[in-house]
Amino acid sequence: MKTQKELGVPIPHHKTLVTRVTKSVTKEQREKALNDTEYNVFSFPADLLFLDFLSDSGTTTMTDLQWSSLFHGDESYGRNKGYYVLLEAFRDIFERGDSPKKSIELILSGEDNVERLMNELYLVPYEGGFVNGGIHQLDRPNTFIVPQGRCAEFLLFSTVSRILHERDASISYYIPNNGHFDTTEANITVSGLHAVNMFDKLTILQDFPIDKLETENPFKGNMDIEKLKNFIKKHGSEHIPLIYLTITNNTAAGQPVSMKNIETVSKIAHKHNIPFFFDACRFAENAYFIKMYESGYESWSMAKIIQKMFSFADGFTVSFKKDGLANMGGGLFFRDKGVFHTVFSDEKDIGTQLKVTQILTFGNDSYGGMSGRDIMALAVGLYEGTKEYYLANRLRQARYFAHELAKRNIPVILPPGGHAVYIDMNRFFEGINIKIDDFGGVGFTIELIRHFGVRACELGPFAFEWDQKTQEQRKGILNVVRFAIPRNAYDNSQIDYAVAAIAELYKNRDKIPKIEIARGAKLPLRHFQTGLKPK
Ligand code: F0G
Repeated sequence: MKTQKELGVPIPHHKTLVTRVTKSVTKEQREKALNDTEYNVFSFPADLLFLDFLSDSGTTTMTDLQWSSLFHGDESYGRNKGYYVLLEAFRDIFERGDSPKKSIELILSGEDNVERLMNELYLVPYEGGFVNGGIHQLDRPNTFIVPQGRCAEFLLFSTVSRILHERDASISYYIPNNGHFDTTEANITVSGLHAVNMFDKLTILQDFPIDKLETENPFKGNMDIEKLKNFIKKHGSEHIPLIYLTITNNTAAGQPVSMKNIETVSKIAHKHNIPFFFDACRFAENAYFIKMYESGYESWSMAKIIQKMFSFADGFTVSFKKDGLANMGGGLFFRDKGVFHTVFSDEKDIGTQLKVTQILTFGNDSYGGMSGRDIMALAVGLYEGTKEYYLANRLRQARYFAHELAKRNIPVILPPGGHAVYIDMNRFFEGINIKIDDFGGVGFTIELIRHFGVRACELGPFAFEWDQKTQEQRKGILNVVRFAIPRNAYDNSQIDYAVAAIAELYKNRDKIPKIEIARGAKLPLRHFQTGLKPK
């Protein structure tokens, strides 16, 4: 008899406690709603959909522990108690590996020994990591809580850009990344810096054998090391204030990054005294890819893999709305007295400068624009979202989705990422007269909503503004439609409905309309705002 481990299927991670019933909306009702929202899929009312794959961000179904933690939420203006347990949870997850302290239990269990609370939670000084504590967080702030990831990006790039331009406004500054997310790129650009993508489009689109999905992964999200080295050589390290690595690489079809690539990029950055940062959205899923597919890590705990990944970084921005951590939250962190801190603190401490902007824009440092309830849900979620058996099920669902599509010859990018499956629209429309600026991917997403009540998102020539870009910039744009899977929300029967709907449209792809931008083609981040017209 096989053991439960030998069954080759992850042990079930959850059972449903509460359900939300979908409404029985008709095609005609959806047609009216599409027309009245200018065919912009971001503007379509979610309540009229059966399945929503628009984003995995903030769409997580929280666990019962997270819901119950909301009652411990403390909405005090200064130093709510959740702030302390959140900082402790950060230390546990990003730094302590297999030896977490789990001080959160003091609060969840209602500890009333005041001396103990003061000595173990409220007044403990920490320094030297990503999360200074007590007096050191006041003296040298290095942990910034904000409402979501893009706020952390704004905080970082607006501050860094000001410092750089005060030093020398005459030169260009570049931020290389294995793949900038759209808000990251936009925050860099509006700050007067230049975002550079270093993933290889051909590698991502390369075929992958369907029968190897369970056993192999080529880590297609990796930074192209040769490109990075050549870029530094060509432009000089003084033009590169930061090197970024996005884990997992959402812009490059959600592909993971290997530990080896993380280590190599970190070494290159440090050789040139350039701070090395993660865009750590989906760090937990990336860590599970490493455990599953990178040799040497099979027997490592998730905690130890995450600890090792972050040991290479000088700092990170992160959206906690991903990875099953919480519905809300973001953060900016940097290593106390590390490379970033040293490079950017002239007469003024960089942390203090960031904190001034944080207080001016988002909120006091101990809530940063998050409610006390969200802070508690996140503190609990950091432990829940990094559990191995949760992640095993999570990644398996993306593989199931991709496998079902591939079986029907639908050109899904293989292997799938951790949070989404991406369909290659160039191959989808092969042999059909549809040009890149007919935005076939958008037409496909509109038809999916119209006929079947399923929402996905084009992340291709429309979202990345093909028609507004130079030939060189166009090289970095993939033509894909993404189905991002909300965490713990759908089971495989819902994935089956989505697959059947996609397959039906694939069969009828010659009937998918071309799309014209009727309003706002030049608006920044236009996929959120423009009006469209099917031709
Ligand atoms: N970085 C990456 C890699 C992201 O995927 C996102 C958001 C952000 C930064 C910004 O975080 O939304 O909390 O401000 N991605 C979502 C998505 C929106 O659907 O892919 P945020």
